[in-house]
Amino acid sequence: MIHDSLINTTASLISPDIYNCQVSSDKPLKLGIMASGNGSNFEVIAQAIAEGKINAQIQVLIYNNPEAKAAARAEKWGVEAVLLNHRDCKNREKFDSKIVQTLQQYDVEFVIMAGWMRLVTQVLIDAFPNRIINIHPSLLPSFKGVQAVEQAIAAKVKITGCSVHLVSLEVDSGEILIQSAVPVLANDTSETLHARIQVQEHRILPMAISLLSQRK
Ligand code: GAR
Repeated sequence: MIHDSLINTTASLISPDIYNCQVSSDKPLKLGIMASGNGSNFEVIAQAIAEGKINAQIQVLIYNNPEAKAAARAEKWGVEAVLLNHRDCKNREKFDSKIVQTLQQYDVEFVIMAGWMRLVTQVLIDAFPNRIINIHPSLLPSFKGVQAVEQAIAAKVKITGCSVHLVSLEVDSGEILIQSAVPVLANDTSETLHARIQVQEHRILPMAISLLSQRK
């Protein structure tokens, strides 16, 4: 069963598809996390593992931006952080090959994109079939791609939210595993709305990993 403290009454919907992606092992699931920026989602995963809410261990953090605050957070949690700068690679496939090499080197079983701001190629997807998830700040399939929060405000929707989904080649289009709804308030800016969405991201991403790491 999912750890009780990962569930509360906020509207979150878990798709039965998530059970198709479970990893059948009693051992801690070996995670590779990819982040481009602040790393708050990285940190809630590390925290949930430390509190025994997720049966997993973080093998490595990969970050692509030298300025990413996620790297300092990894250091704080004693997680190895590897900088792979996409600017050093000729094309996306070469970059993804480097990522795959690093994930394999760290014996990663399952990949979490936690604020990863690069498009992925078949090279990465083929190396971890049905083993890569992403957190996105909208109720997919609405507002795919970058600036999802700004898109929601511009569209004047009254409810938005966040989604955890499987990663496929088409951006933000893989099977949706968990979603959580967030109201858009009349005076919301992208910052205030994103902050409330992140509260929900910090619930559903650990929840998804907890479910995925459970034995079938
Ligand atoms: C999160 O809100 C995540 O949903 C978003 O980036 C933020 C990263 O926050 N991801 C995307 O927009 C991907 N398309 P964090 O660095 O504090 O975890």
